[in-house]
Amino acid sequence: ETVEYAAESYDLGGHDTYMHKEIAEQADAVDRVLAGRIDDRFATVHLGGLNLDPREARAVRRVKILGCGTSYHAGLIGAQMIEELARIPADAEPASEFRYRNAVVDPDTLYIAVSQSGETYDALAAVQELKRKGARVLGVINVVGSAIAREADGGVYVHAGPEVCVVSTKCFTNTVVAFGLLALHLGRIRDLSVKDGKRIIDGLRRLPGQIAEILKQEPEIEKLAKSYADAHSMLFIGRVRGYPVALEASLKLKEVSYIHAEAYPASELKHGPLALIEPAMPTVAIVPEDDLLEKNRAAMEEIKARSGRILAVAHQEQEKADHTIVVPKNEDELDPILMGIPLQLLAYHTALALGRDIDKPRNLAKSVTVE
Ligand code: AGP
Repeated sequence: ETVEYAAESYDLGGHDTYMHKEIAEQADAVDRVLAGRIDDRFATVHLGGLNLDPREARAVRRVKILGCGTSYHAGLIGAQMIEELARIPADAEPASEFRYRNAVVDPDTLYIAVSQSGETYDALAAVQELKRKGARVLGVINVVGSAIAREADGGVYVHAGPEVCVVSTKCFTNTVVAFGLLALHLGRIRDLSVKDGKRIIDGLRRLPGQIAEILKQEPEIEKLAKSYADAHSMLFIGRVRGYPVALEASLKLKEVSYIHAEAYPASELKHGPLALIEPAMPTVAIVPEDDLLEKNRAAMEEIKARSGRILAVAHQEQEKADHTIVVPKNEDELDPILMGIPLQLLAYHTALALGRDIDKPRNLAKSVTVE
């Protein structure tokens, strides 16, 4: 499979930074990852390069996803989608940890390496070690023909297009959508009903329009970013589907603004981090409207009771929050795809307000091709 991108895809196209351009491109990028893959007749998707026939897909007993940084976070969401839609036990681990711990390599486990560049050394080394031990490894990769894509047995290209900013945005979103496709595909080979397959397909089709809706809120998010830019540290909380969104949003903020940020499962607040809460320590709470809504509201109440400032990302205004960014509701399983997008803009505008070098944050490289 080859994909050519015109030279214009490397132009700033009127934006001041690649980060801003790449955030703004996300509705089109998601159109690309969906294009030509949806099969309405069987309420599933076709993934041409997977190299996993239905019998092999049914024999998979576990899924293990490996990646670094943002790709690891996308993998955490992917693992939840695969568990929910295909009912296969799945988890994600940093590839950089996995490769050093002499992990048990199991022939019934499907391993998936995630990487924007396809060149990250820790992820490549993990794939090579897995292959040496006879494992089946798929790739969820952006750069076509990259080292990990060549090494893998098959996989899904995420078609985000060239990502120039060191800080990953559109590729994260497309990777998570690609995992949605893979989870739907595996689910429909196993026990996911036609009705649920159609429900997920409808949800996937709504994503580009909903992303465009979120991006229209940029002026308000810019104001919010200015009001939080004086923080020395920020806490990001979420639970189950919201937790990887919190992890990724906290990574975005620290990479590009250099503000210290920490992500915690909201359920763990009372086991330690509540001690940090005071007016100078704002919290960003990911509050999807799902089975855990009341639990998340209770966590915000705990924070409010200790005079913490709260910015919520939710599907409707949150009474306990000082500010709410309202994002459109999709299907519960797909909501994490949308909830991180306003927080990319928050990180961007915070960094802008602080005069940071947005496309090339200090000490970081776009792809880490060394140990
Ligand atoms: C993303 O914002 C980071 N700069 C970084 O964590 C990145 O995701 C990581 O180095 C992995 O890169 P890859 O996706 O190209 O493998």
